[in-house]
Amino acid sequence: MSLSIVIMAAGKGTRMKSARPKVLHTLADKPLVAHVMKAADDLQARHTVMVTGHGADEVEAFVHSVNPQIRCVRQMPQLGTGHAVQQAVPALPDEGVTLILNGDVPLIGSPTAGALVQACAGQHLALLTIELADPSGYGRIVRNAEGQIRGIVEHKDASAPQRLIREVYTGVMAAPTAWLKKAVMGLNNQNAQGEYYLTDVVAQAVADGLSVVSAHAPSETEVLGVNSPAQLADLERRYQQLQAKALMEAGVRLRDPARLDVRGHLSCGQDVEIDINCIFEGEVHLADGVRVGAHCYIRDAVIETGAVIHPYTHIDGQGQAVKIGPRALVGPYARLRPGAELGAEVHIGNFVEVKNSRLADGAKANHLAYLGDSTVGRRVNYGAGSITANYDGANKHRTVIEDDAHVGSNCVLVAPVTVGAGATIGAGSTIGKDAPAGQLTVARAKQVSLSGWSRPAKAAKKG
Ligand code: UD1
Ligand code: CA
Repeated sequence: MSLSIVIMAAGKGTRMKSARPKVLHTLADKPLVAHVMKAADDLQARHTVMVTGHGADEVEAFVHSVNPQIRCVRQMPQLGTGHAVQQAVPALPDEGVTLILNGDVPLIGSPTAGALVQACAGQHLALLTIELADPSGYGRIVRNAEGQIRGIVEHKDASAPQRLIREVYTGVMAAPTAWLKKAVMGLNNQNAQGEYYLTDVVAQAVADGLSVVSAHAPSETEVLGVNSPAQLADLERRYQQLQAKALMEAGVRLRDPARLDVRGHLSCGQDVEIDINCIFEGEVHLADGVRVGAHCYIRDAVIETGAVIHPYTHIDGQGQAVKIGPRALVGPYARLRPGAELGAEVHIGNFVEVKNSRLADGAKANHLAYLGDSTVGRRVNYGAGSITANYDGANKHRTVIEDDAHVGSNCVLVAPVTVGAGATIGAGSTIGKDAPAGQLTVARAKQVSLSGWSRPAKAAKKG
């Protein structure tokens, strides 16, 4: 059976009070419509049609950046959800089943939508419904005494008794395509909002003798719509709770599941512990026994077995995975930027910044330091307050520090420069030429002491 999917994404989202089209507002850092597209993708529909309108250029640019196969049709002006589907009609085939998804109902799961397509079975109108404690704003499912669905009445059009109905339409329906095309073309806008309501096809089905069936959504979170900033925040929290629950089920120990944010994909080995208020973005992997302290921000990183990330550490690979070796210790207050690669047992301490640098096993930079565009050998000790001067105002240059070198405190390594294996750089040195292996290199003014020198005294006051 050929499946078509229509995603409605043309509405303005007035209640968001935002210049940004509603479906581009983000949940877990991903536009709402991207979540819906993911569900659609999982269902492997023959045709997917996106209805765009408000902010169409922006929405279409985003949609095509994710999936160029999706056909976008424009709805100008936006006269309601029924009118939206009317615009999709020419892009739909004459057979099979069409599944309607709302661009602002982001957490719909493909198993739930797939089950609705099954319930439609090519011959019924199938509605996904749910009972809500607070149904206000939603279309109510109107049933007769036998429990058969007779129609959907929008909140604004509902009578006082109808408003007491707690079973609502979730915005997801599946229908025989040929029938749906005919039904939407016959809609009118005689209602409280003067819009063409897609939901009026239900009464049409009843009139046509097409049976209307319903499936209950398995969870509220899957079908809640985003119409306001408060609803968006609520859904974000629910989504985060689901992520936290899944991580805990996999054995991850979260100090407080209510204080975790995963805005991408976090995979964890065994015995991983995460303290409160950590944010994970992009693709992050924490291997067995990794511990992450409170208030860390980690984006695009691979952290190996037994490494410890102390509190307030900022790690951001910007798409190219910062690598942290086994049993490394990082932070508190450390910053690892793109191209940072730490070997086994590397120590990066407070206020140390590492960018585009590779530190081999056992290297240490414990306090107040900068390593940029550098290659640091095994067991190197990089002193407090030392920096690589990697930028000459026009170009970046590399610093090489070979195995077992010891760079004292407050040194400047002016790149390009090499510090040889086992070399020692005296504290306070500015190193602009290569420092030979095994020797002490000091580049600072000699210390002098003057005997018989006395501080100026104040001139005595005249009597
Ligand atoms: C809609 C349903 C309501 C249901 C609720 C579930 C209708 C008339 N009502 O109401 O029964 O309980 O969803 O979340 O369908 N859109 C367009 N073009 C338009 C108008 C809307 O593409 O002209 C898109 C929006 O971008 C949005 C979706 O359709 O993604 C739903 O529109 P919205 O205005 O939010 O409908 P609701 O009032 O929530
Ligand atoms: Ca809505």
